[in-house]
Amino acid sequence: MDPLDALLTPEGRALVERLTPWDEGRALAVLAAVRREPAWASRPDVVAAAASQARLRTRAAARFPGGARWWTADGLEQATRPAVAARHAARFAAAGIQHVADLGCGDGSDALALAAAGLAVLAVDRDPDALWALRATAADRGLAVDTRLADVTGPGGWWHEGSPPAASGCFVDPARRAGGARRAAPHAWSPPWSWVVALAQRVPATGAKVAPGIAHEALPADAQAEWVSVDGDLVEAGVWWGPLRTGRARRTATVLRGTGTATLDDADGVPTPPVGPAAAWLVEPDPAVIRAGLVGVLAERLGGHLVDPRIAYVLTDARPEPGPFASRYAVLEPLPIARKALRARLRALGYGDVVVKKRGIAVVPEELRAALRLDGTGPTATLVLTRTDAGPLALLVAPA
Ligand SMILES: C[S@@+](CC[C@H](N)C(=O)[O-])C[C@H]1O[C@@H](n2cnc3c(N)ncnc32)[C@H](O)[C@@H]1O
Repeated sequence: MDPLDALLTPEGRALVERLTPWDEGRALAVLAAVRREPAWASRPDVVAAAASQARLRTRAAARFPGGARWWTADGLEQATRPAVAARHAARFAAAGIQHVADLGCGDGSDALALAAAGLAVLAVDRDPDALWALRATAADRGLAVDTRLADVTGPGGWWHEGSPPAASGCFVDPARRAGGARRAAPHAWSPPWSWVVALAQRVPATGAKVAPGIAHEALPADAQAEWVSVDGDLVEAGVWWGPLRTGRARRTATVLRGTGTATLDDADGVPTPPVGPAAAWLVEPDPAVIRAGLVGVLAERLGGHLVDPRIAYVLTDARPEPGPFASRYAVLEPLPIARKALRARLRALGYGDVVVKKRGIAVVPEELRAALRLDGTGPTATLVLTRTDAGPLALLVAPA
């Protein structure tokens, strides 16, 4: 029996569970003992596959709650977090789409979420191991997902080449790494970005997950882009065409924190914020707000200004209420830029350590922290370094 199929037998599953959580320090001894057992002595290939699953499950545990899954190493690296995949699926469902082709489905985070939302899913990938992982997880969860091994860019690879069922759409999450290296340029993704854009002209209900660093100029004028962060980590930009767009906005920033979700958008335009001096409060926008280019919307909402037109710190005189869209700091005092004077002031204030936040200034925070040589005995200061029209600015701030 193929080793991957052998993993799905009751004995194979029990072996994976025994090896999870995977402990690298004990791995050699544990595997040697398993290989001596009569049940596994003649199947070192299955033992190796079980060890690999245990390792991947252990790595996946924090980011992928909600039950064990079957993984490939590449698939886990690239998989959409469940909360974000559920939002993708909800978009298709809300648009009345009933059939979705997930083109380049990997281990299937998105395909599983689409199926869980009640949509009919055709999941296509050119990697047979990824399809195996998706089929195995779908079966465990009682979800129906049709899979097809094909190159989606080739002829006849999936059902839209023939006649698509009514109310159908496509989802594409292009691979952005090859041979272990990240590929930043959209033309180097697989399938390439130009292929995704052309697909959206044929299938109006198309959505794509792309790197959040994508240049705004690469986004087609007829699409809506949503930058998404999860607990402060920027995880993706979703690009949505046709009925998958929501509202009038072209760019939105969605912030997922805990179980809450909040969205900011450019539906009413993006004002150019005024530039002014340091003030009593400093607001650091969430990375989704920054990447979506919506700092101006947030600044207007807070009645704030910037200290430099290109720097994403918002300053306000009155205590701002940015909600989930930003972190708020009270500005305690301006600090000297020169290291000696900076160190002397922080020591005089009794600080024992420092956290350095910076924008637009060529400083390596950890290097500056080491250079300041604070003795670790007092509280930790938060230092903000930023460029301004009038030169560099250092502020002592406190999360508030
Ligand atoms: C980023 S992963 C998809 C991850 C998936 N959305 C998830 O959350 O689990 C991209 C997948 O596209 C597949 N892929 C890349 N180019 C392809 C092509 N031309 N045809 C079929 N599959 C392709 C890769 O094998 C990989 O599994």
